[in-house]
Amino acid sequence: MFDSVSIATTECHWSIIAKFVVYRVCRLSSLSDRQRRAFEETFVRTPFDMKKLVGIVCIALAAITMLFSAPASAEPDLAVGKQVFAANCVACHKGGANLVIANKNLQKATLAQYGMDSMEAIQTQITKGKNAMPAFAGRLDPNQIESVAAYVFAQADAGW
Ligand code: HEC
Repeated sequence: MFDSVSIATTECHWSIIAKFVVYRVCRLSSLSDRQRRAFEETFVRTPFDMKKLVGIVCIALAAITMLFSAPASAEPDLAVGKQVFAANCVACHKGGANLVIANKNLQKATLAQYGMDSMEAIQTQITKGKNAMPAFAGRLDPNQIESVAAYVFAQADAGW
């Protein structure tokens, strides 16, 4: 009799923990209330067993992995920026120069002179283009644009 009580208590604990995990995951992944209830009903309110716990832990881990890997991959990456620059920009900006309009080069002082000394300004120019500089919106994705802008910024800082 004592045994069955302690088992019941353990099960109760598991289900509270599971419910909490589900709640946190749903909050983090901003599911709607209806989705959250359906999720809870499937995994928590029904009689509880280890299989379900394993299932919930797997789903929770998958959701957490997704949540934390998505923003990480969106960070600007200087190595990616260097590649993008070599493939798309060197033709006109070799070594930070400007082979089309010489005085609009990518040196730090020049970028500042033309108001191009911020990540936003550089990204906008790459995305939309300007005069003889083509727009790259269709050819590069936002992460590549952010990365190449960061690369230009870093190179200008270092004096190319
Ligand atoms: C076909 C030649 C060409 C290519 C390719 C090109 N640009 Fe340009 N770029 C220009 C020209 C021309 C300007 C000057 C635009 C103006 O202000 O009239 C310019 C200006 C700039 C400026 C502002 C410089 C300043 O001093 O105002 C930045 C930053 C820049 N380019 C970055 C890039 C990056 C990054 C790439 C590659 C993704 C790239 N450009 C590809 C021709 C090019």
